[in-house]
Amino acid sequence: MSSINDQLAQLQTDSLAKIEQVTTLLILEDIKTQILGKTGALTEILKGLKDLPNSEKPIIGQLANTVKTTLTTAIDSKRSYLEEEALASQLAQTTIDITLPGIAITIGKTHPITQTIDHIVSLCKQLGFSVAQGPDIETEYTNFEALNVPKNHPARDMQDTFYMKNGNVLRTHTSPAQIHAMTAQKPPIKIIVPGKVYRCDADVTHSPMFHQIEGLYVDKNVTFAHLKGTLEWLLKELFGKNQKVRFRPSYFPFTEPSTEVDVACFKCNGDGCSLCKKTGWLEILGAGMVNKNVFRHVDYDAEQFTGFAFGLGVDRIAMLKFGISDIRLLYENDIRFLKQF
Ligand code: PHE
Repeated sequence: MSSINDQLAQLQTDSLAKIEQVTTLLILEDIKTQILGKTGALTEILKGLKDLPNSEKPIIGQLANTVKTTLTTAIDSKRSYLEEEALASQLAQTTIDITLPGIAITIGKTHPITQTIDHIVSLCKQLGFSVAQGPDIETEYTNFEALNVPKNHPARDMQDTFYMKNGNVLRTHTSPAQIHAMTAQKPPIKIIVPGKVYRCDADVTHSPMFHQIEGLYVDKNVTFAHLKGTLEWLLKELFGKNQKVRFRPSYFPFTEPSTEVDVACFKCNGDGCSLCKKTGWLEILGAGMVNKNVFRHVDYDAEQFTGFAFGLGVDRIAMLKFGISDIRLLYENDIRFLKQF
């Protein structure tokens, strides 16, 4: 018994000294195998266990366990020490070159159309308008009939309107939102409706999908002067005092009297060019006093109430504001173009 006892004590002393001197993780793992591995020194010593009297076996076994634990702990703590040391030296060697240029982060921007809508909406809110919505798909009734657009009106022509198989249409203007709002609510009503509209048309100033903002104000004693004052203020806020603007008599089935508003072409400044089709002017909105026939369709008392409506062409206004001469640029989503706004 004493010999195994001594061997174990010797193994512990020798091993601790070896572990103490190790300088690399690789050597440490080697030593661990030599001492505690399946064919290592400890196993070798314990082979003598079977020759001992039974009474001594547990005592030696216990001693062997203590030695094993002591050595395992020593190896583990040496390993942590060496790992930390390795990391520290790696960090000390790695330096950061702060003179290298950084990677520029490009921040997304609001699309010019959205910017224009946001601007107009915030201006109209100052005048007490609240924002409403309408669907992109309308019935012929809401898109035309209820707005007093008769069956034979050219606006219903297959070339302008996108008809769906079931007879519904992609709204050709935001005006049907007037019908939805007035059927849902009694006067007074004061709303704007921004939205997408669709017409079968495409060139430098026309896109098959474009944007409008509808305005509707119905109350007692609303007059054309209110309409004119509202639009003049709005356009001045949008384009500044120096922008030339003209009100031109016009016709819409859903308003009477009606007007269209043009602004001087930003490209040729009124001289006439391809953008303004040689007229020197760009039409940006239609407006007028709500036609009594429309009131009839929504059960508003035309004797008691009057109202005005307008429909702003958002894309044209964005083109003017930002000096964009081809409407299609707004929909190509070329990052180089969009970055400029
Ligand atoms: N809906 C008309 C258009 O798209 C514009 C408009 C709206 C005219 C409201 C008068 C009143 O051209």
